[in-house]
Amino acid sequence: MLSPVLFLAALISASALCLFTLSLKRDKVVGHSTLAAIRGLLSPQGSGLPELLAQRARPNQRLVRAFGITNTFVSSSTSIHQSFVAAARALLNKANARGWEHFRDLTAQAVQIELAQHSDKIIEYSTFVQSITLRVILVGLLGADSSVEDFSREDILTASNHINQLWALSKNPATIPSHLLPQLNASLRRLLPNVKSFPNPVDIVVPAWETFWRVVAISVAYSHSDPRLQQVFTDLYTSPQGATFKGEHLTDTDTPISAKDIVNEAMRLHPPSKHIGRLAQLRFPFRFFPTSVITLFVKFVSPSAVYVKEYADVQGVLLSPDIWGQDAAQFNPWRYGVVPSADSGSQQDALGFIFGGGKTKCIGASWAPVAAGVVCSAIFDELDNSGFAIQSGSVIGGRDGWVGWCLTKIR
Ligand code: HEM
Ligand SMILES: *[C@@H]1O[C@H](CO)[C@@H](O)[C@H](O)[C@H]1NC(C)=O
Repeated sequence: MLSPVLFLAALISASALCLFTLSLKRDKVVGHSTLAAIRGLLSPQGSGLPELLAQRARPNQRLVRAFGITNTFVSSSTSIHQSFVAAARALLNKANARGWEHFRDLTAQAVQIELAQHSDKIIEYSTFVQSITLRVILVGLLGADSSVEDFSREDILTASNHINQLWALSKNPATIPSHLLPQLNASLRRLLPNVKSFPNPVDIVVPAWETFWRVVAISVAYSHSDPRLQQVFTDLYTSPQGATFKGEHLTDTDTPISAKDIVNEAMRLHPPSKHIGRLAQLRFPFRFFPTSVITLFVKFVSPSAVYVKEYADVQGVLLSPDIWGQDAAQFNPWRYGVVPSADSGSQQDALGFIFGGGKTKCIGASWAPVAAGVVCSAIFDELDNSGFAIQSGSVIGGRDGWVGWCLTKIR
């Protein structure tokens, strides 16, 4: 009779050979570009939370390498998920309790500080938005125990610059300059000295700020030269409420457009997460193998023999002419008219994926767009008061690509 050990050995060798051959072909990434396929990827039938967390954590190991992140984005632990989400939710609840007027006033102060640093010079646009949003997120969301003007300018600049730089570096396999993370850590620690609340500041600052600053930068960039959009932000500045953001105060005679429409349209054309990646483990034959054997496969056969790399093509559905019509590539916040169009269900679903989906959908999804709108409104108000104007560059940027964009003193 064949001994079980021998049988297992034979099975493993045969599987290794088959998978090696298959993996040579399978070394590609599967993109999902329809609403149904994205839903299926983000909420797979029959997968529990531990499996979802593992599928997200595997491709995110690049964030461990670049930032030393230890939060739920890089871990398959349900207890880390539970505690991180609970802590982040508590911060959002506290921010909501302080109210949008408070948040607006913090931003106005932050803008004044940034403008005061350069009373007669030209200010670089992306640095300007990064610094304001970081100050405001630190105080207005994370509840840092200081006021927006107390932070060292040096630390604000280092933290924003290094987060953006490390994010870009995390995307390619080259070694990362070793001074960046210690410098980032040190700046963030001075900005958030409470070690008990923030044991590893990058864990919360990166998810709360990294996407947020770009949504503000893009929304301001699209709105600064259009008086109709300026009016929308003036209304929001005057009455910073969720209802104003949604345009509930608008009557038939008003321009039927809200700050929400503007921010949604900015995020549609420039989604902060263009692709949401997942790395699932093949069920067959690994269901039958212990973890140690799977580790050997990854090491000696190929990672692509064990895992399937997939991503939700969020940008794809946000730009799809099937969902958005022929002007899908144009900035047109009026498209979200008061009368729901035939496609409005699909459009809302597509917009929802900007914040992920399923059990790990962003918990800031309803807070962040309002916060971005309020920050935009305060930026416009303060620029108006101070005599600075925004000069456009040739294209709207993302994490970088803001060459030519600046603020100049016009009076
Ligand atoms: C415009 C700004 C934002 C965008 C576009 C955004 C986007 C996302 C996306 C796409 C995910 C899902 C990631 C995945 O499953 O792979 C996510 C998750 C998450 N986001 Fe956001 N986010 C934003 C702002 C924020 C803010 C301000 C917070 C602050 C508390 C936050 C906290 C979280 C948390 C805790 C999760 C993980 C939820 C879970 O695992 O259950 N996000 N975000
Ligand atoms: C960054 O800070 C965290 C938390 O203080 C620490 O655990 C980690 O070792 C630091 N990493 C580097 C490279 O400085």
